[in-house]
Amino acid sequence: MEGRETVSQDAISTKPMLHSLTGGIAARPPVWLMRQAGRYLPEYRKIRAQVPSFLELCYTPELAVEVTLQPIRRYKLDAAILFSDILVVPDALGQSVAFREGEGPVLAPIRSDADVARLRPDGIHERLAPVYETVRRLAAALPREVALIGFAGAPWTVATYMVEGGTSRNFHNVQLWAYRDPAGFARLIDCLVAATIEYLSAQIVAGVEIVQLFDSWAGVLPEPAFERWVVAPTVRIAAALRQRHSGVPIIGFPRGAGLLYPRYAAASGVDAISLDTTVPLAFARDTLQKRGAVQGNLDPLLLVSGGAAMTVAVRAILDALAAGPFVFNLGHGIVPETPPEHVAELVALLRGV
Ligand code: CP3
Repeated sequence: MEGRETVSQDAISTKPMLHSLTGGIAARPPVWLMRQAGRYLPEYRKIRAQVPSFLELCYTPELAVEVTLQPIRRYKLDAAILFSDILVVPDALGQSVAFREGEGPVLAPIRSDADVARLRPDGIHERLAPVYETVRRLAAALPREVALIGFAGAPWTVATYMVEGGTSRNFHNVQLWAYRDPAGFARLIDCLVAATIEYLSAQIVAGVEIVQLFDSWAGVLPEPAFERWVVAPTVRIAAALRQRHSGVPIIGFPRGAGLLYPRYAAASGVDAISLDTTVPLAFARDTLQKRGAVQGNLDPLLLVSGGAAMTVAVRAILDALAAGPFVFNLGHGIVPETPPEHVAELVALLRGV
């Protein structure tokens, strides 16, 4: 997929998200929340109950549009995030992916060269076409000041699910493969780099204005492995997207990167850095925000608790980061036990009403 015009000055001035992500400093920082659509909302659970599987929800544009818009109708958020999942990419590559109630994702694990050879990169757009249709409908439906965010999992994080066969506690299979047979594991990562570029590029052509790369398990790797499996693939994705779609901001979320956050910020080529809950605010301001916008990082459990604890933490984040390019967000996704009225409280606090 080639060719889409640069994000216009007009879009930057009407959408606070684009202003902040391109280095602007806002009087009121824009806000959106990772996993802002989902099980904490009763209207989401109602739609979810109508479909036999979570993936079917992701692949039904009418329903995916509806659940994307649900939080936008309730709260004055500055961005909508496409409703989908990072695991649609392995599904589109031909790996078996299922979501089981209470168990999370279950994949038929990939452990060998022969397994990698069976992946079908050429078929991904056909399987993912309903996601692009969802994006087109959302781009037409959203209020003009609300930005549309597309996303994908970063190759390392997606590979952890593909190799472990689901959510892992210790990542032994995937790390051992990377250590014992780096050339073989690189073939899986290369396949994911190519698929991720194609997938995000098609989302941009369909109408997303920002993309976020979720590297949720970046924090499990020691430095040389982090460099090879987190930083290097992100460099390739960011460079390809920038060449094809200059001006579309890329947000990177290397969750748990700790002391490697500055390395990721300096080398990966993303425009903005999403901070996990553990990143100290003064460190974020003094090292990461010097290079570009930062996003974060309220603990999702403070949104569950609400009240004074949440207010104090929100003020500390604003005091540290709102004087530079900044987007307010959580440090990880909303959890299902979050009271929806606490999200309303948070947004009111940020809007000063
Ligand atoms: O509102 C949004 O943020 C958009 C939709 C979105 C989902 N998943 C929907 C979802 C996004 C951006 C994601 C990203 C995602 N998915 C990540 C990266 C962010 C992170 O949390 O670290 C990861 C690792 C996944 C993989 C995944 N999807 C897992 C491990 C699970 C099971 C655990 C869980 O939270 O349920 C999912 C399922 C999932 N993805 C649900 C939703 C709303 C719940 C499934 C359901 O409703 O039945």
